Amino acid sequence: MYSTAFLDLPALASAQGTVRLPGSKSISNRVLLLAALSEGRTVVHDLLDSDDTRVMLDALQQLGCVIDRTGGTLAITGLGAHKPRSPAQLFLGNAGTAMRPLTAALAVLGGDFTLSGVARMHERPIGDLVDALRQLGCTVDYSGNEGYPPLRIGQPNLRLDAPIAVRGDVSSQFLTALLMALPLVASQDVVIDVVGELISKPYIEITLNLLARFGIRVQRDGWQRFTIPAGSRYQSPGSIYVEADASSASYFVALGAIATGQGQASIRIEGLGKDSIQGDIRFIEAAAMMGAQIDSGPNHLDIRQGAWPLKAIDLDCNHIPDAAMTLAVMALYAEGTTTLRNIASWRVKETDRIAAMACELRKLGATVVDGADFIQITPPAMASSDTSTASHWTSASIHTYDDHRIAMCFSLAAFNPARKMLRIEDPKCVAKTFPDYFEVLFSVAQAHQVPVICVDGPTASGKGTLASQVAQRLGYHYLDSGALYRLTALAAQRAGVDWDDEAALAQIAAHLPVVFEGHSVLLNEDDVSELIRSEAMGIGASKVSVFPAVRTALKHLQLSFAQLPGLVADGRDMGTVIFPTAPLKIFLTASAAQRAERRHKQLISKGISAKLDSLRSDLQERDARDSGRSAAPLKAAEDAVQLDNSALSIEQSVDIVLDAWRSRVLA
Ligand code: DC
Repeated sequence: MYSTAFLDLPALASAQGTVRLPGSKSISNRVLLLAALSEGRTVVHDLLDSDDTRVMLDALQQLGCVIDRTGGTLAITGLGAHKPRSPAQLFLGNAGTAMRPLTAALAVLGGDFTLSGVARMHERPIGDLVDALRQLGCTVDYSGNEGYPPLRIGQPNLRLDAPIAVRGDVSSQFLTALLMALPLVASQDVVIDVVGELISKPYIEITLNLLARFGIRVQRDGWQRFTIPAGSRYQSPGSIYVEADASSASYFVALGAIATGQGQASIRIEGLGKDSIQGDIRFIEAAAMMGAQIDSGPNHLDIRQGAWPLKAIDLDCNHIPDAAMTLAVMALYAEGTTTLRNIASWRVKETDRIAAMACELRKLGATVVDGADFIQITPPAMASSDTSTASHWTSASIHTYDDHRIAMCFSLAAFNPARKMLRIEDPKCVAKTFPDYFEVLFSVAQAHQVPVICVDGPTASGKGTLASQVAQRLGYHYLDSGALYRLTALAAQRAGVDWDDEAALAQIAAHLPVVFEGHSVLLNEDDVSELIRSEAMGIGASKVSVFPAVRTALKHLQLSFAQLPGLVADGRDMGTVIFPTAPLKIFLTASAAQRAERRHKQLISKGISAKLDSLRSDLQERDARDSGRSAAPLKAAEDAVQLDNSALSIEQSVDIVLDAWRSRVLA
């Protein structure tokens, strides 16, 4: 998972391959609660592992459910006839799918509970549900602002004979919450009347479908009246499979439509077919209207590019509120203006999604009109043939508002024809529903060019520390190319090959049995991380690296490190020979005296005795050999930024490099 402050995505060119997506959030959290309320043990397969399911599981455990995990499956032993453990203080993060139904279930069962969440959760309305529960005789109080969590729940005095009225036009989760809570107390028929037009009906269908799996057959009269029959009782189905998340699938459906090109390439999504019980599966109809070619098998979808550019649409999106955000980004690739209507619910989600989408789409160059319940997007100019009056794609730093869907759908803007890089702020917010989203995207996407930051410089200039810290801050891969020459020297020594036998050294370098595992380097499965850092191997590396055949043999291995989302590489010839087109090259220097002193301190701190004078003369000798050789000598690339870090702290150097990078990414 990307835990960096931001993620810089290079311009992406194409995509193809197979993805398996995490389980549906809506199904996962409903299944967890239903299993917790049932009699018996339920084994749950393919459950989504994310922030929202984790807070639900923690809450259920606090309430007395027994949860055990074996491999990829999880089993819950439900409360059945037992009361939930009370008192309990439940923290539910920003998970609406936990807050609403738990509130209803605990309110009808009674006890002493507080339910709270993150600051945004305390801004998400729950008053309509609380009003409905109070009509029923439940005790629910606001401990903060009227109409919003946090809530305090006490003992109820239930009145079930009159129909319970609940508003259906703000969030369908209120109705879902009541439908899941009331079977717990259905000693007689319990009737729920929906007031106002019910939004997000497909989510109610998921609720009804899952209730049936747990033994509750709700009678439905249109979308206005629901009756839970007297004597309803939750019964575990024994085991249950969670479908792949249809809203998460929307990004990969869009990817297929945008990025597979006109040939045979496709994106296959496993774990989901067109007969899914999730409402957002109907996103595929909207994507097809925009030009995607979609084939469905029983448990997979295949998506190819059809129309290109995509076709603009004018669509009522009430039935696909979450996935419709993906349409807004697809609109960037359409000819004409796309209008998404009936999306008022966006305003009360993780953030005000209409305002957020409008603001971020404008940053990319789109022309956006937004209203109370719609958004209208005209893309920036696609190609040079567009008129000069049209706006153009611009690089942007996308603010993500702690909203997983904003982060995921905007990653699709990386396919922009202007080949602009894109910065996604706070990429880890995807953990709400799809912790590995970016890794899955990178497994099927190809960049026009993977961005590489080169840090070259003489021995002990601090390039390793600088490069690895920059890589960590960016979430990019890291290549310590000196380690490859050190490994070659060590492998040669172990094989009894002299450090001046070019042909034999090249053979060794071409077939180095090396594996990089986190911070460790394994040679023939032997951890040599410490060994290759010795002064002796530094000198050996300097010697073997003068040979052109050795350098050629290691080139392919070095190039293979350039993978999405990007690479930071340090060495002597990263910017001049290996990655000559890298967008940022740093040539790092420090005085010989400074470098010798740093190396001295480093060795002493490791308990290795060393003489400053001899270190300094060794350094100078290596500098002379590395700079004086004819093959790829140490020198600054013409377009390198010179950085003398003699008087700088590591943090200062890292910040200078990140600033230089930022000005290139967002140029
Ligand atoms: O960066 P380092 O000290 O680990 O490098 C050890 C030696 O390897 C260095 O003296 C020269 C050689 N080297 C090279 O020739 N080209 C590189 N890209 C990296 C290192």
